[in-house]
Amino acid sequence: MQKEQKNEELMDSIVSLCKRRGFIFQGSEIYGGLAGTWDYGPYGVALKNNIKALWWKRFVEGRDDMYGMDAAILMNPRTWEASGHVSGFADPLVECAKCKHRFRADQIPVENAKTNKCPDCDGKLGEARQFNMMFKTHVGAIEDASSVSYLRPETAQGMFVNFKNIIDTFHPRLPFGMAQIGKAFRNEIAPRDFLFRSREFEQMEIEYFVDPENWKDSFEHFLKEVHAFNKDIGLDAGKVHELEVPDNERAFYSKRTIDFEFDFPFGRSELYGLAYRTDYDLKKHSEFSTVDLSYYDDEAKKRFIPHCIEPSFGVDRSLLAVLSNAYTEDEMGGEKRTYLKLAPSVAPVKIAVFPLLKNKPELVKKAREIYAMLKKEFGAVEFDDNGNIGKRYRRQDEIGTPFCVTVDFETIEKSAGVTVRDRDTGKQERIKEGQELIDFLYKTIG
Ligand code: GAP
Repeated sequence: MQKEQKNEELMDSIVSLCKRRGFIFQGSEIYGGLAGTWDYGPYGVALKNNIKALWWKRFVEGRDDMYGMDAAILMNPRTWEASGHVSGFADPLVECAKCKHRFRADQIPVENAKTNKCPDCDGKLGEARQFNMMFKTHVGAIEDASSVSYLRPETAQGMFVNFKNIIDTFHPRLPFGMAQIGKAFRNEIAPRDFLFRSREFEQMEIEYFVDPENWKDSFEHFLKEVHAFNKDIGLDAGKVHELEVPDNERAFYSKRTIDFEFDFPFGRSELYGLAYRTDYDLKKHSEFSTVDLSYYDDEAKKRFIPHCIEPSFGVDRSLLAVLSNAYTEDEMGGEKRTYLKLAPSVAPVKIAVFPLLKNKPELVKKAREIYAMLKKEFGAVEFDDNGNIGKRYRRQDEIGTPFCVTVDFETIEKSAGVTVRDRDTGKQERIKEGQELIDFLYKTIG
């Protein structure tokens, strides 16, 4: 009980830091918000872009068997008939007859499920009914059944429908993959836990096409690659767990699924998934579109529909895992401090440069020069002369800046170099400004 309370507090602290420091705000906040939506501020978007860039580097740029994509969010509605989303992308919903609150039937507490009582008011819960989670919209000026379309609930289908385009333009040999990063939308019955379950979120997905005889090799390969990516973004390996999803809980099209779970403050929950989707999607799209989506293997002299291994990552969940992993409270100089122990690879600001005092033009001038030099090298560098130096360190600690570089009187008067302060230890060392400083920072920031 105490542990749960503490974790709830931890979650609240993360949400409040995100707002206070300009990472993430409630969506449409001035209108009272919109449930299940979040707006990323300057540091949030920088952190998110860093995570996406590391993913793209590992899974697309870093390989020669992967084709990057950016498909449209709106797709021909037949796509969703073929994929099974129109008939099957639903969660069981129950409604309370008294307070009218709605719940996901599979997520209400066991006691309430047994007694059929509302968790909020003890009123009677109605029968469970299936609720389709796709957001419906109309394409064009006429709003009738013929113009219905959907905001995509996964990026995956944008790749399956382009399979033939990749085959025809690039003539790849199996195995090869298609990868994309983009928004997905789900009308979740119960959005919860900050970014964990929202209605608008981003995915980073790969559809990797294989000869069915070799699917296990690629599955094992991506299992390792998912862990390698977690390391890229600085997640502690001990907080990530593999869960072999049992037969009766897997999506109907999957022959094997492993969920990667993370120890979030609210408990161990799904971070990513790795699924063997067989030839289900290409077969269905072939059937519904009447376009041949088979592949001819000219070495083996056989024609077949490739099978698919799908590593699927949530961007926002990655970011929440990164924040939960990094959030740290300790004591420094006799004072409580909060900081984000972010890997330099994802930190929104890599280096902050300060003049010791704001009202000393010689310090400010020198600090500005150093700032300009470091910005050219590292990009995400901030100049800060606002408030006393202690406050500036605390602010940078809270946004996870690995290094603060300070210009003081010794820099100017004794040519003693600048001080470089390490976020995690608070230790400072003097380093000559110029190439020596750049080399030092490159060693850690990369
Ligand atoms: N194409 C397969 C697919 O979409 P999924 O397990 O439904 O599979 C993949 O979603 C990943 O997308 C999840 O592991 C999670 O990281 C992220 N995700 C799914 N629903 C989400 C939501 N409502 N809010 C935030 N992220 C979500």
